[in-house]
Amino acid sequence: MTTASAPGKIILFGEHAVVYGRPAIAVPVTQVRATVTLSDSTDGRTWIEAPGIGLAAALDELPAANPLAAVIRSTIEAVGAIPNPLPPFAGADREGSGAKIRIDSTIPVASGLGSGAAVSVALARALSAQLGKPLDDEQVNLIAYEAENLHHGTPSGIDNTVITYARPVYFVKGAPIESLTVAVPFTVVIGDTGLPAPTKESVGDLRRLWESDRPRWEAVFDEVGEIVAQARTAIEHGSVTRIGELMNANHALLQEMSVSSRELDRLVSAARAAGAAGAKLSGGGRGGNMIALVEPELAQRVSSALSDEGARRTIISEVSS
Ligand code: PMV
Repeated sequence: MTTASAPGKIILFGEHAVVYGRPAIAVPVTQVRATVTLSDSTDGRTWIEAPGIGLAAALDELPAANPLAAVIRSTIEAVGAIPNPLPPFAGADREGSGAKIRIDSTIPVASGLGSGAAVSVALARALSAQLGKPLDDEQVNLIAYEAENLHHGTPSGIDNTVITYARPVYFVKGAPIESLTVAVPFTVVIGDTGLPAPTKESVGDLRRLWESDRPRWEAVFDEVGEIVAQARTAIEHGSVTRIGELMNANHALLQEMSVSSRELDRLVSAARAAGAAGAKLSGGGRGGNMIALVEPELAQRVSSALSDEGARRTIISEVSS
């Protein structure tokens, strides 16, 4: 039996503009995780079980574009050897002894916490280890990115990167990963609207806006890029008040991009009213999660304020290097 797991993540700054080449900052959220457990199957087929999303299927019945099937295929390719046991695939020789792949995740789906990428990372790690050739982070990251392509269409790659490396990252699409030193650890409260919000939709809507008036949106993305650059400095110098102000400024620009929603705005306002130094939506927007930066002693109060305002659940997390 082989097990691997990967954390969730949250985007602190720069979502959406990151798709257009601007930087973004994301951090792992270790309070939630996806875990993949592999064991032998007795009937020569490979079975995938993900009770959290009601999936129980034989691998060879999943469409080729299914992200889980894609991760399994790419991992086997990357491992390079003819593995034994070989999980049989659609069209492949059914002689292999097969495997049972069980996915357990405490990361809510479609909520901006990176559930898809975390499952991909854990699956690539567990499977490559089971096949006797654990992949390195770079290989795992690439496989998870390819799966994100199937989930999202045009992912920047930030989710798979922060989840693979499990540390704060300053991310620019296509550029080598840059770590971020958190000078003074700070506390965030994550509030879930409970509304599933497929990232693909908000990204697609924003793309249509951008196509209709590129100069306007490029200027907005530049403003976001400037905020992210300042946020990096603030994080590396431990200026918590400044980080909060920049989160508020980033949220205003996300509202302008029309990726916020009434529910997100209400949670953001409630967090600020309860004493948060700053708050913004996080991730694709429309639904999913928001984050608030708080002094540690205010975390519980802000968390309760979010619940009173309708947050389905809250997570208090510390951001550190
Ligand atoms: O919804 P999430 O957390 O997966 O975030 C997506 C972040 C976007 O910038 C909106 C899209 C992307 O691919 O970077």
